[in-house]
Amino acid sequence: MLRRLHPEQPDSFAFTAANQQWAEAQITKYPEGRQASAVIPLLWRAQEQEGWLSRPAIESVADMLGMAYIRVLEVASFYFMFQLQPVGSVAHIQVCGTTSCMICGAEDLIAVCKDKIAEKPHALSADGKLSWEEVECLGSCTNAPMAQIGKDYYEDLTAESFGKIIDDLAAGKVPLPGPQNGRYAAEPLSGLSSLTEYDAGKPQYNASVALASDLGDTVRRIDGTEVPILTPWLGKDGKAAATKSAPKPPKAPATGKPAAKQAAEAKSKPAKAKKAEAKPAELKEEQPETLTGARGGAPDDLKLLKGVGPKLEQTLNELGFYHFDQIAAWTDGHVAWVDARLKFKGRIERDGWIEQASKLAAGEETEFAKRAKKDGLYED
Ligand code: FES
Repeated sequence: MLRRLHPEQPDSFAFTAANQQWAEAQITKYPEGRQASAVIPLLWRAQEQEGWLSRPAIESVADMLGMAYIRVLEVASFYFMFQLQPVGSVAHIQVCGTTSCMICGAEDLIAVCKDKIAEKPHALSADGKLSWEEVECLGSCTNAPMAQIGKDYYEDLTAESFGKIIDDLAAGKVPLPGPQNGRYAAEPLSGLSSLTEYDAGKPQYNASVALASDLGDTVRRIDGTEVPILTPWLGKDGKAAATKSAPKPPKAPATGKPAAKQAAEAKSKPAKAKKAEAKPAELKEEQPETLTGARGGAPDDLKLLKGVGPKLEQTLNELGFYHFDQIAAWTDGHVAWVDARLKFKGRIERDGWIEQASKLAAGEETEFAKRAKKDGLYED
């Protein structure tokens, strides 16, 4: 299946304040230079907030992690758990259609989706509340057939129980996840045949169902306020440490409104006004001092700057930049001048070329330069 960005996109994306705090705290889990490791949790959070991943959301996550947009798009378009098109405002239902579930009645569940939601997968129901798709095995085969909604599993389904779940969702109720046939977990239908002493005194729900219902984040969009923002690795008060190593906020205006809502508002404004609003005051370009060749015929290896690959190094050389100290001396106006001459805008600021170049010009190392020298790792 071809997974592409949806043709209609909102103008911007911003995490809610609570989700932004959560995201910044996640980034602190990883050592300097490895912030990209937080890409999946951040994308997932963005999707939990908005229901799907828009281009501005993907770009915003890329900005937070100092990654090229294409790298984050690659992740978002590779994993089927990420939705690249708008989904139902209440729930997107993923029905497992693989062997165990198929044998146990997945086709009946899909028929229910077609009947109650929409004929085609990924289409919205008439009221816009629900959407569905068929997915591959979700690893809950002993509780087949089953469906995933958000991060919750609804298992041991029949057409009737599944239909009731969909009706409840459409009516604004929150159906309890887990087995729907009275099973506690994946024990035999006839009850436990061993370890029966553990049967008595067990909690009402199994662990994942209990957690989902206790946190109260089942099915709902996640704005961050419903889940305690835990940062145990930062100590009790994670805020100070999180702020210290927090990345820059996303470039999208932080209105706090869901992107879909902003898009709807933006759509209703005249195109001219929209354009004027979207364009921030432009920085005046100022040409930096350039060289006609490397000093002493020995250029610095500009590929040691994170974000500069062989092609970009060639472009910089053609523009007259051969040395770290030249880049370290760029002012905002110089950055605007160079940026205007690069194919992909915003890299200088996003990848922190000036900070990196200052260190390298002073004979210090950066994490990226160390790795690049060791692994022969260069970015395009
Ligand atoms: S086959 Fe459906 S969960 Fe594995």
